[in-house]
Amino acid sequence: MDKLRIHGGTALHGEVFASGAKNAALPLMAASLLTAQPVLLEHAPRLVDVHTLGELLRSMGVQVEREDSLLRLRADAVSRCEAPYERVKTMRASVLVLGPLLARFGHARVSLPGGCAIGARPVDQHVRGLRQLGARVDIEHGYLVASVPSGRLRGAHISTDMVTVTGTENLMMAACLADGETLIENAAQEPEVVDLASMLVDMGADIEGAGTSRLRIRGVSTLGGASHRIVADRIEAGTFLCAAAATRGDVTVRGCVPAHLDSLLDKLREAGASIDCGEDWVRLRATDLPAGRPRAVSLRTSEYPGFPTDMQAQFMALDCIAEGTATVTETIFENRFMHVQELVRLGARIAVEGNTCVVQGSGKLSAATVMATDLRASAGLVIAALVAEGSTCIERIYHLDRGYEAMEHKLAALGARIERLR
Ligand code: EPZ
Repeated sequence: MDKLRIHGGTALHGEVFASGAKNAALPLMAASLLTAQPVLLEHAPRLVDVHTLGELLRSMGVQVEREDSLLRLRADAVSRCEAPYERVKTMRASVLVLGPLLARFGHARVSLPGGCAIGARPVDQHVRGLRQLGARVDIEHGYLVASVPSGRLRGAHISTDMVTVTGTENLMMAACLADGETLIENAAQEPEVVDLASMLVDMGADIEGAGTSRLRIRGVSTLGGASHRIVADRIEAGTFLCAAAATRGDVTVRGCVPAHLDSLLDKLREAGASIDCGEDWVRLRATDLPAGRPRAVSLRTSEYPGFPTDMQAQFMALDCIAEGTATVTETIFENRFMHVQELVRLGARIAVEGNTCVVQGSGKLSAATVMATDLRASAGLVIAALVAEGSTCIERIYHLDRGYEAMEHKLAALGARIERLR
């Protein structure tokens, strides 16, 4: 298993380009199942998760080809409407094929994802909404076995119990081909949901309210192909900005959407960083912080447009070296503090109290060997390692490769002393 060795203490300087968003690419790829026409995705990030979903779609008979950052998909000869356990257990977002398969083919057999490091992450809201759309969904031997007895899904008024990103995406895709109108209340407002809706509309779908908590979808009989540029990855961009603040550097992230980062930028300004934004770039300077290090800033994760749970570990790493004490409250997942014990190994002072951590900033961290446990925890450890004195080794970085494209190269280009050990 690969490791990352990072020698801390270097301030990051320079420019970095944001890749296409993982959490947009995955639903967009699944949406290719809704049509027999070609779907072209530009700005497709080279990530393990994107590769994994591509392999799953291929196993169904979908043509999937990559040319540089262009992904070509065509589902004109789908032979299997199945997502087997072996694939789904490695990536829970595979459940995103369920809605499109039911909508277009009327049947699907998709493995239940099972839990993961950050929580149980059930899919009961996906199932409940699909049932309301007229699907029959049974759980048999760990699989969701779904069908549409009436032959076609029909529009429904759905209100999910909690905001669910992939739940909203699954139900929105299914509703596009349903007979009649669907209203989804309590819908997720994440930019990745908006990106999916915009491509679905380009394919001929009739969707209103994307980006709000109320989605109205009027079903159509068929959908055509589309050519779509995947929205920039706001979490990758945010990760680099946190790294710039933690190392007291001066970094510009290009090819991003500043408006998607509002809640994070507010917190980074509160920490003392100075931030300038252009149309598609954000520059963070933290070279002349008053106390020579950031101020500790408390946060509470919540659904978009609130502070993103996917940035919680990264910002906690910043708080570890800040001046003062901060609280970090995680409201989305029940077990998303796996990075805490690893940060403690680097010298951080963190007390976990339920879904809140109390972080006492300290002037310095010291290098150690640490272990990545999940994707964003790994990113938090990278940030901490960039400021820890000495040479830190991060193990099990396959977690990182799931969601960050060429991270060590991008960080090295900003001056980080980082290398991948095979
Ligand atoms: C998406 O996961 C993202 N993944 C996650 O990013 C992100 O952390 C999460 O949304 C929250 O923003 C993708 O988009 C591929 P949820 P998702 O359904 O859709 C509960 C990353 O690091 N819930 O919005 O799986 C659930 O347990 C990943 O890139 C149910 O109880 O998350 C959680 O507590 C990690 N039943 C909460 O809702 C359901 O049917 C939010 O989950 C669905 C969800």
